[in-house]
Amino acid sequence: MSASFSAQGDVAVITLENPPVNGLGFETRCGIVEGLQRAIDDAAIRAIVLVGSGKGFSGGADIREFNTPKALQEPSLHTVIRDIESCAKPVVAAVHGLAMGGGLELALGCHYRVASAGAQIALPEVKLGILPGAGGTQRLPRMIGLQRALDMIVHGAPVKSEKLSSTRLFDRMIDGELLAGAIAFAQQIADVRPLPKVRDHEISDADAAEILQSMRDSIQAQAKFFPALARCVDAVEAAVKLTFEQGLAFEREQFLYLVQTTESKALRHAFFAERSASKIPGIGPDIALRPIRSAAVIGAGTMGAGIAMNFANAGIPVCMLETAQAALDKGVATIRKNYENTLKKGRLTQEQLDKRMSLISTTLEYAALGQADIVIEAVYEEISVKEKVFQQLDAVMKPGAILASNTSTLDLDKIAGFTSRPQDVIGTHFFSPANVMKLLEVVRGKATAPDVLATVMALAKTISKTGVVSGVCDGFIGNRMIEQYVRQAFFLLEEGCLPAQVDGAIERFGFAMGPFRMSDLAGNDIGWQIRKRRRTEHPDMIYSLVGDKLCELGRYGQKTSAGWYDYHAGDRTAHPSDVVNQMILDHAATLGLQRRQINDAEIVERLMYALVNEGAKILEEGIALRASDIDLVYLTGYGFPLYRGGPMFYASGVGLNKVLEAINGYASGPNAHAWQVAPLLQKLAAEGKAFQ
Ligand SMILES: NC(=O)c1ccc[n+]([C@@H]2O[C@H](COP(=O)([O-])OP(=O)(O)OC[C@H]3O[C@@H](n4cnc5c(N)ncnc54)[C@H](O)[C@@H]3O)[C@@H](O)[C@H]2O)c1
Repeated sequence: MSASFSAQGDVAVITLENPPVNGLGFETRCGIVEGLQRAIDDAAIRAIVLVGSGKGFSGGADIREFNTPKALQEPSLHTVIRDIESCAKPVVAAVHGLAMGGGLELALGCHYRVASAGAQIALPEVKLGILPGAGGTQRLPRMIGLQRALDMIVHGAPVKSEKLSSTRLFDRMIDGELLAGAIAFAQQIADVRPLPKVRDHEISDADAAEILQSMRDSIQAQAKFFPALARCVDAVEAAVKLTFEQGLAFEREQFLYLVQTTESKALRHAFFAERSASKIPGIGPDIALRPIRSAAVIGAGTMGAGIAMNFANAGIPVCMLETAQAALDKGVATIRKNYENTLKKGRLTQEQLDKRMSLISTTLEYAALGQADIVIEAVYEEISVKEKVFQQLDAVMKPGAILASNTSTLDLDKIAGFTSRPQDVIGTHFFSPANVMKLLEVVRGKATAPDVLATVMALAKTISKTGVVSGVCDGFIGNRMIEQYVRQAFFLLEEGCLPAQVDGAIERFGFAMGPFRMSDLAGNDIGWQIRKRRRTEHPDMIYSLVGDKLCELGRYGQKTSAGWYDYHAGDRTAHPSDVVNQMILDHAATLGLQRRQINDAEIVERLMYALVNEGAKILEEGIALRASDIDLVYLTGYGFPLYRGGPMFYASGVGLNKVLEAINGYASGPNAHAWQVAPLLQKLAAEGKAFQ
C-alpha cells in the first residue's frame, strides 16, 4: 500500500508514500481510499490530514503506470476525489514541495488546504497535449480567479505556493513543521459544518468574457498545432458558464478527445523518449560515476567557448586552452558578450554573471589542465590536429580523467587510438550554439568504458542537455540522417523546385527552418567540404552538383550575405535570389532534365522519408539504441516539430507500409540511386509493425 495511516490524537493522518514524487498510482489511490474509510469508521477521529512523504505532496499521475491497465483501475482519481469531497469528516490537504497535475486536483478535492512556502503548484497536463481531467479546470478557477487559473492551465507553468497565499486556494500558510501545523489547523476546524467544498464556490470575475477572449487571441498561432490549448480555454469557459457537474462532464469529454489526438501522442512520446534516452542496456543505476568537479576545453572557438559556458552555468570551473593568447582573449570576450546579452534581457543578474566569468580560466600550457576531471577537445576538424591534441592530453591528464572530442565527422575510435587509454575516450557532440542547443550526442567508442559513458550521460543532465547515445559512424545519428535530407532537397532543385518552395513546404510541415535557410545559417561551405570528401570515400553516393555550384559563386550563406538566398546587412531575413534561381535553372538544363511542378506533399515526403530511411539503417546497425532516441535527436537538435514527435514516430503514424510504398515510387524517378531502402523498414512494413 503506497499510503500509510496513523492517528495523532483525534486527527487521522494519511501519508502518500510513493517515491519519488508520490505519483497517484493504483496502490496509492487504494491507500487513500482505505485510509479514509478507517478514519470514517473510527469514532475517535474528528478530522483527516492528507500529506505527502519525501519531496512533496504529489506530482500527479504515476507515469510508470501510463499505458497500463492499472492506470484505469478503480479507484480512479475521480473516485478518490469524490470520496474525499463527500466524506463527513473534514479532510485537509497539507502541501509541500510540489502539488502538480492530479496532485493539485487531489488537493482541490479536499475541504481545506494548508501549505508550506516554496511548493510548486501546477497543472502541467497541457504540456502532454491533454488537460487536467480530474476536475482541475473546474475547481482551480473557483479558488484562484479566472485569469490566474487560465494562465496556469493553458501554459502549464508552476507557481510557487506563497504567490497564491492571498487566494482562496490555501486556507493557511504554515511557517514551521508542516504536519504539526496541519494537525493544529485540522483540530481548529474539526467541528465546522457544513464542510466547505471547492465546487460550491462561484466564479465571480466580472470580466470573464474578456479574459477568455484575450487568452484565445494569444494562443491563436500555436493552437493550430497544439489543440489542447484551445480546449483548455473551452474547459475553463465551461467552469464559468455551466453548473459544476456539467463542467466536469465537459472537461471529461475534452480530455477523452485530446488524449487520442496525434499531437498529444507525439508530446507523450517525446516525454517518454527523454526518459528512455538515459537508459543504456547493461549499465545499471549501481554503476559508480566518475566525479566531475572541474573541466577543461581545448580550443576557444565557436564551439569551445559555448561548451565552456555550459560548465560555468552549472557551477563547474572550466579552463580553456588555445595555441595563442589572442584566440583565448577572443573566446573569453565572446563568452562575456553572450552573458551580457542575457543580463540585458533580465535573465541573469550581474552577480551571476561575475560568478560565471570567475569560473572560467585560460591557459596556453597543457600542464595546467592535468587535474581536470574531464577535457573536451573542440579544435579544427582535422585528424592530424586532433592527433596532436590527444597525444598531449594522454601525456598530461591524470589517470581516470575523461577525454572527450567534439568532432562532428571524424572517427572517434581512431581518435581514441591516439591515446594509451581508449577506455577513457568518448565523443561529446554539441550543437551550435553550444550554450543554447539542448542536444548532446554522446558518442560511444569501441573501447569507451561503461562508467565513462554513464558519467557523461549524467553530466549531460547536470549541464541541462539532453544526452542521446550514438555509436560511431560518419555524422553520428543527426548529421548522418540530415545528409540524406539535404541530398533530396538538392535533387528537388534539379527536378523542378526553387529553394523558397522547398523551405516553405518544410516550414509549413512545422520545421523551424527549411533545408536551404538552415544551410545558409550553418555555412554552405561545410557541406561542400563533406561532399568533396564523400567523392573520394564513397564515390557511389551521388550528389547533385547544385550545392557546389552555389559555393563556387562564393555564396557560403549568411556569413557572406549571400547563399541560397540574398541577405541585407544586419538582417537575417532570407530574400529569394535571382542569381541563384537562374543558376538552378541553368544547372537543370545542362543535365537535360525536364523540370516539372512539384507539390508540397512530395517535397515533405521525400525529405521526411529520406530521414526515416537513414534512421532505419542507423537503428538496424545499432548506432542508435532505440527509435525514440532518433526522434529525440531531431526534436532537440534539428527543429523537428514537437507535435509530430520526431521522424520515426511520424513515419510509424503514417504507417510504414505507406512510407515504403512512397519510397518505392520515388525510387522509380530520376534519382532512384538515392533510395536504397533500409532492410529494417522493409521488414517492419511487411509485418505491419512500427519502429521501436
Ligand atoms: N561549428 C559547428 O557548428 C560545430 C558543431 C558541432 C561540432 N563541431 C566541431 O567542433 C570542433 C570545433 O569547431 P568550431 O566550429 O568551434 O571551430 P573554430 O574554428 O571556431 O574553433 C577552433 C578553435 O580551435 C583552436 N585550435 C586549433 N588548433 C588547436 C590546437 N592544436 N590546440 C588548441 N586550440 C586549437 C583554434 O585557434 C580555434 O579557436 C570541430 O571538431 C567541429 O567539427 C562544430
